[in-house]
Amino acid sequence: MTENHRSMNEPLDSSRRSFLTKLWLLLGGVALAGYSSAVVAFLRPRKTGGTSDDSARIIEAGPVERFHPDSVTAFIRGRFYLCRLDDGGFLAISSKCTHLGCSIPWVEDERRFVCPCHASTFGISGTVLNSPAPRPLDLYPVIIQNNIVRVDTGKAIRRGRFEASQVVYPRKI
Ligand code: FES
Repeated sequence: MTENHRSMNEPLDSSRRSFLTKLWLLLGGVALAGYSSAVVAFLRPRKTGGTSDDSARIIEAGPVERFHPDSVTAFIRGRFYLCRLDDGGFLAISSKCTHLGCSIPWVEDERRFVCPCHASTFGISGTVLNSPAPRPLDLYPVIIQNNIVRVDTGKAIRRGRFEASQVVYPRKI
């Protein structure tokens, strides 16, 4: 390569290098902006009430009449049991054992929940009948509107004992 040739190419190389540097900076900026907005969206608190999240969280169980008094109905989606007590009241009980978290089945013959892991048992209202479970099964809020039973599976309610105020009754028509 001659001296003349090299000097003619130098400005071209320099401007190409400058263009590539700017291009990389631009792409880096775009990637950083995308990453930042994803982090902000992740950290932003969830909105409450009236959002599209409700449809995933709130499970429609069905009309009140579908559930006979003194019955237990399993809901796989949401992992809870809808228990209708013999006085007609409803409780939505988590299927997660309060000892170490195993899934507990309802055993109809024994009329109780029996944990397959360490044999804790619970009554229809979720109270502990046999340890080692330290407390009753958690609850989910039950909402009864227009005779339809819904369960809010957004957050389980931890309780120390069963209380009558936990039971939700359909409105008398
Ligand atoms: S996990 Fe249920 S008794 Fe231990």
